[in-house]
Amino acid sequence: MASVLWSKGFEPNKLIEEFTVGNDRELDLRLARYDVEGSMAHIAMLESIGLLTADELKTLTDALADILKIIDEGKFTIEPGVEDVHSQVEFMLTRRLGDVGKKIHSGRSRNDQVLVDLKLFMRDELRKIGDAVERLFARFQQLSEQHKEVLMPGYTHLQVAMPSSFGLWFGAYAESLVDDMQMIVAAYNIANQNPLGSAAGYGSSFPLDRAMTTRLLHFDDLHYNVVAAQMSRGKTERAASFAINSVASTLGRFAMDVCMFMCQNFGFITFPDEFTTGSSIMPHKKNPDVFEIMRGKCNRLQSLSNEIALLTANLPLGYNRDLQLLKDIIFPATTELINCLDMCDFMLQHIKVNPDIINDPRYDYLFTVEDVNRLTLGGMPFREAYKTIGMQVQRGEYKPTRSVNHTHLGSIGNLANDSIAAKMARVASPLHPDN
Ligand code: ARG
Repeated sequence: MASVLWSKGFEPNKLIEEFTVGNDRELDLRLARYDVEGSMAHIAMLESIGLLTADELKTLTDALADILKIIDEGKFTIEPGVEDVHSQVEFMLTRRLGDVGKKIHSGRSRNDQVLVDLKLFMRDELRKIGDAVERLFARFQQLSEQHKEVLMPGYTHLQVAMPSSFGLWFGAYAESLVDDMQMIVAAYNIANQNPLGSAAGYGSSFPLDRAMTTRLLHFDDLHYNVVAAQMSRGKTERAASFAINSVASTLGRFAMDVCMFMCQNFGFITFPDEFTTGSSIMPHKKNPDVFEIMRGKCNRLQSLSNEIALLTANLPLGYNRDLQLLKDIIFPATTELINCLDMCDFMLQHIKVNPDIINDPRYDYLFTVEDVNRLTLGGMPFREAYKTIGMQVQRGEYKPTRSVNHTHLGSIGNLANDSIAAKMARVASPLHPDN
């Protein structure tokens, strides 16, 4: 059995070890690839400042490349008695290479190691969230164009208000995702800074070349101040949680719309039977469980930022072990959000819209504003036109003309989907630096 990295002649109490390590071994598996990449950059830098020979660098780099292969094959594990991924990688190197393996940890600490792993991990996860958001965005836009002629009731106070359309409804969620993308990009930029070299949180007396590791790991910039670098643990996750929160609120709201519009009292949309779920007692039921689960998951995801704020509130400066618990909060959340986004996209490929909602007499009053405006355009002062139509409604004599003519930007007749697509491309561009 391997012993802990910081072992100095005594073994830690079993209960203490279990309590402090918790499920970190399992969570750390998601950091393995980044830990190896961080180590590769670190040793290249150590060689450049004379702390490793060229031969040692080659030996270590080859061994790390082999570990990367094991990770890619899904065979990497953290062995019993080994505390975390950082210890496991170092343990594998020393087991294979002896003294050379023991040189790798000069000028760093697990504190900046885990920091750099998390920055690389969050950067990738935010990119993946961004990709999933862009896929769903494209789906909303496509549906908006496809159904732009189909009118549906618009509501205020959940009372029939004015004509809306499926083009407007789908298009609204597309544009709402652009705002969420702003949050994703902000979180991405915060994650995209190199903390390596901050060591335990106060730097090192080795002449570390931090600009070199920044280049090697393709970070946009450094966290220069070593204390600021350590403070970014928690801050990075908090920024990511705001982005997750923002996307989840858009998606959760859409899921609510779907549940409501599928209700027989609305009857605006349906899905093929195999995309609905049944009841054990009511033989007729075709329930929107997918969107209910999505709504619930999205609501839970919105509590993340609170959890992170409470976990990190008023922590004293420097590393504190509490920070380890952040992984437990943020790791499952990124997966969950991507899963919800992809599921929504999948469901929307099969959505059927009711093309004939608007002719139902219960929606007659949708057209009152259209008719007021028509009188106004004919020369009647607006307030008088309002009163004329209002009195027709009051007396039960109102007959809607049912013709709708909206032309301004962003309205039913002029959705501006191309401009919205251009805005999304502009906002998301930092996530695609190679384009
Ligand atoms: N598992 C630890 C974490 O996530 C790694 C860093 C441990 N550092 C320490 N000083 N105990 O924070």
